[in-house]
Amino acid sequence: SVFLVSAMTPKVVRTSKFRHVFGQPMKADQCYDDIRISQSTGDSPFCSVNPKFVAMIVEASGGGAFMVLPLSKTGRVDKATPVVCGHTAPLMDIEWCPHNDNVIASGSEDCTVMIWEIPDGGLTRPLTDPIVTLEGHSKRVSIVCWHPTALNVLASAAADNMVIIWNVGTGEAVITLDETHQDVVYSLSWNYNGSLLCTSCKDKKIRVFDPRQNKILYEKEKPHEGTRPVRAIFINDSKILTTGFSRMSERQVALWDLKHLGEPMSLQELDTSSGVLLPFYDRDTGVVYLCGKGDSSIRYFEITDEQPYIHYLSMYGSKESQKGMGYMPKRGLEVNKCEIARFYKLHERKCEPIVMTVPRKSDLFQDDLYPDTAGPDPALDAEEWFSGKNANPILLSLKGGFVSTKSRELKVTKNVLGTKVRKSPFNNESGANMAHPLQKNKINKDANLESLVSQIKELQATVEKHEKRISELEQKVEKLQL
Ligand SMILES: *[C@@H]1O[C@H](CO)[C@@H](O)[C@H](O)[C@H]1NC(C)=O
Ligand SMILES: *[C@@H]1O[C@H](CO)[C@@H](O)[C@H](O)[C@H]1NC(C)=O
Ligand SMILES: *[C@@H]1O[C@H](CO)[C@@H](O)[C@H](O)[C@H]1NC(C)=O
Repeated sequence: SVFLVSAMTPKVVRTSKFRHVFGQPMKADQCYDDIRISQSTGDSPFCSVNPKFVAMIVEASGGGAFMVLPLSKTGRVDKATPVVCGHTAPLMDIEWCPHNDNVIASGSEDCTVMIWEIPDGGLTRPLTDPIVTLEGHSKRVSIVCWHPTALNVLASAAADNMVIIWNVGTGEAVITLDETHQDVVYSLSWNYNGSLLCTSCKDKKIRVFDPRQNKILYEKEKPHEGTRPVRAIFINDSKILTTGFSRMSERQVALWDLKHLGEPMSLQELDTSSGVLLPFYDRDTGVVYLCGKGDSSIRYFEITDEQPYIHYLSMYGSKESQKGMGYMPKRGLEVNKCEIARFYKLHERKCEPIVMTVPRKSDLFQDDLYPDTAGPDPALDAEEWFSGKNANPILLSLKGGFVSTKSRELKVTKNVLGTKVRKSPFNNESGANMAHPLQKNKINKDANLESLVSQIKELQATVEKHEKRISELEQKVEKLQL
């Protein structure tokens, strides 16, 4: 039997420090309750987190909206909590800027990308006015993806089959790739230093390309045979990981060597569920987490240089299915608890943090679990990157994270503010060097603001009325059931 073979040939039993990693939901009082998560069925995570805030796409009448809560604001979320609601159509994707924990990008069915600045402590009134509106797509924007190392560089993909790389500081679409993809892009991933992009596309190809040279370096037709969406991410600059479906609709995960794309290095069948598997990869540990929308589990695997390359570790299971999932950047983790990942699972009516922990007896900092990791400081300016420069992320030791959450948060704040004043053009307090193309937008916006505010008030009143009616109806139904 398998067991006997393992016992007799010790080499078969792989040792891994991540073998016993376990997932645990946070206690009920550490969740965010009473939130109406968006019912729309896009394949994006619908949630983005950083060490300060959790942002979630929520139900909204009229346009699209997302809610932003400071991490510490757990518990019941008041119905009157203001949201970010400047888009005129539903939202498809949101992502925090890796270089400024107060800045977030949103992509919407209204064909625009908007960049928002969230004040410390969260919103006290609805936010309708973005810092910048990025206009250039002609159909709904389904993906927004910040550059990992260059400040103010953002990639977006839309149903017009285009990928645009923006200089967010000036509001310009600097690179427009309108011939690279023959259909809708399903996923977009930067490599480690942000010199390359990897995409999966409805035209059944995955591509690795240099966006500044407009040059496709690698291309693979049908990494998975099925017709459902594929996702692709870089593992390192020579390997990519894909999730997809077999011809028989089984879900699969595969690893590819870019130099030998004929056959996968590894291809594993998982189950027959229908949710697209979102991969979240931690380069520091080599662990990849797969979360399917509609699943109630998170599976995790370790990627190594030894066969079969993708090693199943374990699965976090629960009863309730996930509507979306946020993934905390490494610098936001509790290192003194040996936390190696934290997810923010969206339920229909709440957001529940789930912590992945390596069991260790010692309280000391575990440097083998926490190599220096990407910090918030950008390595390049947008202009440097567009001119052809590359740089790896500026690393941060997490040893300083071995303190209470409060002072760690303060530390991050300081870094981010430093970055902001030094480099981010759109955050210049005087606003005087705000680039020309934005000026026009701003004036229009101010003129419209008043009418928007009154519209929002009307909407709020309507929502409250409906909410009252719903709860009355719920009570009636309950009585009937009794
Ligand atoms: C990247 O992948 C190659 C090919 O398998 C491997 O030899 C190398 O160790 C990996 N590099 C890093 C930095 O993980
Ligand atoms: C960035 O990554 C590319 C692709 O692997 C590599 O060719 C280049 O040397 C890297 N540049 C820097 C500065 O790290
Ligand atoms: C902010 O704008 C002012 C006025 O244009 C300029 O003098 C100053 O250098 C800018 N500061 C930064 C940090 O860009």
